[in-house]
Amino acid sequence: MGMARPPHPFRATIFQMKLASRVVMRGGLKPPGDKSIAHRMALLGPLAPGNSVIENFAPGDDCRRTLDIVRALGLRVEHRGTTVAIQGKGLFTFCAPSFTLDAGNSGSTARMTCGLLAAQPFDSSLDGDESLRRRPMGRIIEPLELMGAQFETQNGQPDRLPLVIRGGRTICGIDYDLPVASAQVKTAVLLAGLHAEGVTRVRESYPTRDHTELALARFGVPVRRDAGAIVLRGMPRLEPIHYRIPGDISSAAFFVTAAAALPGSDLVVQEVGLNPTRTGFLKVLMSMGADIRIEEDRFDSADGERWGTVRVKGGELTGTQVQRSLVPTVIDEIPVLAVAAALAHGKTAFHGVSELRHKESDRLQTIAEGISALGAKAEILDDLLLVHGGRPLRGARLESHGDHRMAMAWAIASLAVSEDCQIVGQKSVNISYPEFWEDLDRLVA
Ligand code: S3P
Repeated sequence: MGMARPPHPFRATIFQMKLASRVVMRGGLKPPGDKSIAHRMALLGPLAPGNSVIENFAPGDDCRRTLDIVRALGLRVEHRGTTVAIQGKGLFTFCAPSFTLDAGNSGSTARMTCGLLAAQPFDSSLDGDESLRRRPMGRIIEPLELMGAQFETQNGQPDRLPLVIRGGRTICGIDYDLPVASAQVKTAVLLAGLHAEGVTRVRESYPTRDHTELALARFGVPVRRDAGAIVLRGMPRLEPIHYRIPGDISSAAFFVTAAAALPGSDLVVQEVGLNPTRTGFLKVLMSMGADIRIEEDRFDSADGERWGTVRVKGGELTGTQVQRSLVPTVIDEIPVLAVAAALAHGKTAFHGVSELRHKESDRLQTIAEGISALGAKAEILDDLLLVHGGRPLRGARLESHGDHRMAMAWAIASLAVSEDCQIVGQKSVNISYPEFWEDLDRLVA
């Protein structure tokens, strides 16, 4: 702990996009398993005595980090292909890890794991890569300390990794209004709440993804909504599950956006999650004039996750307004929506997007730099991002700053440029979508 970490592994990899002058997106896609849901299944499985089997587990590095941490806490985890089996033991059955837990690049792993570690009888240490060490942790430290947890920060940085989480504390339920609309913080509080004496209530300013609430219900935990709060009582008994994770709509978003913005495209995305707290970007694209049809094929009544098919045909897009209240439902899609905005006629305004500064890179800055390099205009006015689109884009060297969603967004932008583009940090796609380049190659006609 406290040592300098090696530089970001994805920074220096460069991908050269050379394309025919006019490309379209055609064919069918089954995106990889949902990353957000996979983290939750990996962290709840250990708390349910018995064998939980999770199919279509997300393939990227982020979810592997969560599984590694679960193993380091003494659990048996088998991971074959995309199936994960976890031999759960129940609440308060983790063993003290013998080394510093490493969340890698994954904010979800770091923040959610803290919710579990805060309630253990032993001390643990948690760290992450260079990017994660720059991201705020105060947002989980504050509510967890109010619940009785104790954190120690290092290097004189009160809000950052690495952290020591002191064990042996009594955790009590809390009534908490989230100051930032963050599903990761909500999840950390609810996971600590499972181990708490009494009732935990969490209220959000704007609805964020509700996979934790749905996953808890699937594991048999009585979670309810009461006067706008998510409510659970501590120390429940969890039941093991056999569950198939839907395809990741956030991974599909890159190809859906490309297909919507490239005239002549025709794309069908199947077996994809359609949880309404995640599909905001489809609404945004439709408000830009995109031809998108959504068919809900399955509604999983045991946990409320929706599945379906998204059909997209390409056409001309026009600028739109993305309201603040919608932002939590499009938070991971703003990089690629900004690309759509650069291709659309007129102006697109993204309101209330300052949270983008705290992602894997400072996404506000990364978006503005790349959009400008492509020859469109992007302005940041406090927490408003304005993109003026419609002019032909030019070839550029596009920096991802090691951020997977930026690298994929720039790949989509490159499809609309007849000159060469270079994407710096192409390997970062391994964080959430290792097959991205293969799928891109297959779908581009
Ligand atoms: C996530 C929540 C979002 C999102 C992240 C995954 C989750 O972060 O950006 O990629 O799985 O809960 P915040 O909750 O910090 O907004």
